[in-house]
Amino acid sequence: MTHPSMQPLYDAYEPIASLLSILEVLHWDQEVMMPNGAASQRAEQLAALQATIQEKMNHPSLEEKLVLAESSEAELSHIEKADLRELRRSLERSKKLPPSLVKELAKQEVLAVHEWADARKKEDFSLFSPSLERFIDLKQQYADALRSEKMSRYDALLQDYEPGESEDSISALFGPLQQHVVELLQKIQAAPLKTSTKLLQGTFPAKEQERFLRSILPSFGFSFEEGRLDTSTHPFCAGSGADVRITTRYDEGEISDALFGVIHETGHALYEQGIQRDRIFSPAGTSASLGLHESQSRLWENMVGRSLPFWKHFYPKLQESFPSFQEIPLQGFWHAVNHVEPSFIRTQADEVTYNLHIIMRFDLERALIAGDLKVKDLPQAWNERFQQDFGLLPPNDRLGVLQDIHWASGLFGYFPTYALGNLYAAQWFERIEKELPQIHELIEKGELLPLREWLKSNIHCHGRVFLARDLCQRVTEKELSVQPFVRYLFDKYAQLYQFSS
Ligand code: CO
Repeated sequence: MTHPSMQPLYDAYEPIASLLSILEVLHWDQEVMMPNGAASQRAEQLAALQATIQEKMNHPSLEEKLVLAESSEAELSHIEKADLRELRRSLERSKKLPPSLVKELAKQEVLAVHEWADARKKEDFSLFSPSLERFIDLKQQYADALRSEKMSRYDALLQDYEPGESEDSISALFGPLQQHVVELLQKIQAAPLKTSTKLLQGTFPAKEQERFLRSILPSFGFSFEEGRLDTSTHPFCAGSGADVRITTRYDEGEISDALFGVIHETGHALYEQGIQRDRIFSPAGTSASLGLHESQSRLWENMVGRSLPFWKHFYPKLQESFPSFQEIPLQGFWHAVNHVEPSFIRTQADEVTYNLHIIMRFDLERALIAGDLKVKDLPQAWNERFQQDFGLLPPNDRLGVLQDIHWASGLFGYFPTYALGNLYAAQWFERIEKELPQIHELIEKGELLPLREWLKSNIHCHGRVFLARDLCQRVTEKELSVQPFVRYLFDKYAQLYQFSS
């Protein structure tokens, strides 16, 4: 039963959430369908839609309804309380931000992405640095507008992606994570067994890759009745509830990019399809955090999709679609898709060294936001750190500091969510092994739905009713820690590279 003070608030918020979800459809359209010439027309449409959303959010009657509901908070259910918390958070945020700053940031993003792309193409950081300097200055102002006294600027930026986290809470995880990953990497490099990704290269027609992926997605519980798979330059997942769309790109000379990319996006999609259906237009009817979202994509991509049991079932199907694999034994394929090797590009990194990429970016962007690292010194700081962590020196800035679009888009505080996703994923999986002890046998039979159901009823359905750390405590009865992930990595790679963990 909805509390009487909540109903008017839900009625007022629903059209706002509805308009927000239209933005996602437009984003998908832009990346997948829209003709190039429509860009400026689309910009007008987006501006009009965003203005309407802002108007509705800032309308005094919304806050009046919120205040009224807050006055009866003691009588509300925990779900209704979460809706109040989230709506209050968004309102406070838009009240604290000067509209001129919001405009400046939007303008700077368009400019910076353009200059970044140019600098990256020409492998010349100096073409991007004035724009980055300006962006950091704006982000500092943004953080100052939002932060409380106890918060650092970086803490304030984190709240956009990982509510409740701070530099300190994340550093407390990343410190030990780095140590364990370095130790594991040394063991892998010293192991007698050598692996390579060579056999993943060959001829793989895009049509055949797509046909294969479409044939396996229903096993994951992905519904084509309520979702789509299309192609775009950069893979993503958009939408929620009964309209969730994932995209991929096909490299006809290499199979793992689309294969694991789609499994990754499917993890995101299952989360969105699993949020309690009648709540997706409520303030807390969204994902708990980006780290939580990433825990779903990583769990399916790495812990399931790169596991031996999974391929025991699906490899014969892959061999049917791509005859070149008929010569290659299952074990060889499993080794290839889990090959570990330090490399320059984050998005192509294996699941061990990936974390080092993230921790390094976390440290550098904190220093930039704090003002301890100047933009002009960033490329050198990047290269020195890279050499130290990976034993490699980036030959140019395209393979170094200019590789990611995040800083050019103003996404400071976003990177750590990727590694948090790995930690959450492993902690969920340990719990799943306890509650569904037959999980590996099920996966080996291709029966993935019990896993999907567990995730749906324990994680997806709640949306943002619980913040990420609270949900973790509630589901696993333990605080988030690096231990489950470290155990998972050491067990898996000891078996794969044949050393004792
Ligand atoms: Co993702």
